[in-house]
Amino acid sequence: MDSIKVTGGHRLNGVIPISGAKNAALPLMIASLLTADELILENVPHLADVESLIRILTNHGVDYHVEGKRRAHNGQQGRNIAFTAGEIVDTTAPYDLVSKMRASFWVIGPLLARMHKAKVSLPGGCAIGTRPVDLFIDSLQALGAKITIDGGYAVAEATGGLTGADYTFSKVSVGATHVAMMAATLAKGKTVLRNCAREPEVTDLANCLIAMGAQISGAGTSTLTIEGVEALHGARHRVLPDRIETGTYAMAAAIAGGEVLLKGAQASLLQNALDVLVRAGVEIEEKNDGIRVMRNGHGIKPVDVTTEPFPGFPTDLQAQFMALMTQAEGTSTIRETIFENRFMHVQELARLGAQITLDGQEATVHGPSALKGAQVMATDLRASVSLVMAGLVAEGDTTITRVYHLDRGFEHLEQKLSACGAAVERISA
Ligand code: UD1
Repeated sequence: MDSIKVTGGHRLNGVIPISGAKNAALPLMIASLLTADELILENVPHLADVESLIRILTNHGVDYHVEGKRRAHNGQQGRNIAFTAGEIVDTTAPYDLVSKMRASFWVIGPLLARMHKAKVSLPGGCAIGTRPVDLFIDSLQALGAKITIDGGYAVAEATGGLTGADYTFSKVSVGATHVAMMAATLAKGKTVLRNCAREPEVTDLANCLIAMGAQISGAGTSTLTIEGVEALHGARHRVLPDRIETGTYAMAAAIAGGEVLLKGAQASLLQNALDVLVRAGVEIEEKNDGIRVMRNGHGIKPVDVTTEPFPGFPTDLQAQFMALMTQAEGTSTIRETIFENRFMHVQELARLGAQITLDGQEATVHGPSALKGAQVMATDLRASVSLVMAGLVAEGDTTITRVYHLDRGFEHLEQKLSACGAAVERISA
């Protein structure tokens, strides 16, 4: 199993290209199941999760090809991939494929909408809390699907197709919003979805579906109105920049010190997190071609944050922010409200010398701590990158094991950081 070695003490200076968003690319790829025509997605990141989803989609009968393969392999830009679900040959998503990544469960929506049936294994993914699928099942049932759980599978059927409905989610969920929206595009009549997630990735999916002929209004607000259509057609769509990768490298520059241009990043996608960084004493400047992040000389101030659905502070940046706060001059509290078990990085940060106390959903970080390199273990995707960040300021070497978590969501991480002067290397086992 590969590990990553970080030697601390180097500032970051240079340009980091921001990739296409993983959390947008995955639902966009799944949307290809809704049409027999070609859906071309531009700027798809090179990630293990993308490869896992390609395996799931091809199992359903989706053909794909990569445009400009040679050029993309040389550089750090994402690929353009064309997906064609001419014929769905299998409506079952088996356990061995779905268990690797939670988002693969989302195929249930398009399969039900187009094929009127689906059998999808209950999901796996990062071990950050129980993460049920009740909202998916409930919303699809509201659209007329009959769903039973049998042998670890959700078995769904909608004889004669789905039917539009007025439905209110009992809790805000990104995944359930994606799935219900996709399902409703081909349902008979009008669907109104209330209490929807407003994350930019939901808007990106809505824009792509609209380009495919769907009739959707209200994207980016909590109420989506969808007029069902007979069929969707092909489209070409560019995946929006990854706001979590953007925030991660902004925090990496803040913790290590230096000056970095996050090329292609869009500030409006993570305004709340950028505001938090400014309060922490980091200089942020919006440029035409990205975001410039600087911390030269002065220290980091403690800031309290609470994770919230968009436009609040994202749960996917909580671990990284905690790593940064270990260097703040004072005490900060970090409250997690989205997932119940998302503090597994705390004990690993403690191995590096961080002073963090946990009380239920709240972590108190006592900074500043002089971190010292150690061997640590990646426990989930975002937690693992927080350990890399801590390694950037730790004295000596930090070795992070189980980096397959990182490979699920961060494209060319070691190259991007090394190009800015960090000492980060992958050790292949
Ligand atoms: C997505 C993101 C993930 C991010 C999360 C919150 C992708 C691939 N993943 O995950 O990176 O951390 O949004 O911004 O885009 N819930 C239920 N029942 C359900 C579904 C969800 O109770 O049926 C709960 C979850 O346990 C959690 C909360 O709702 O407490 C939010 O989860 P959700 O927004 O669905 O997260 P994901 O879509 O899995």
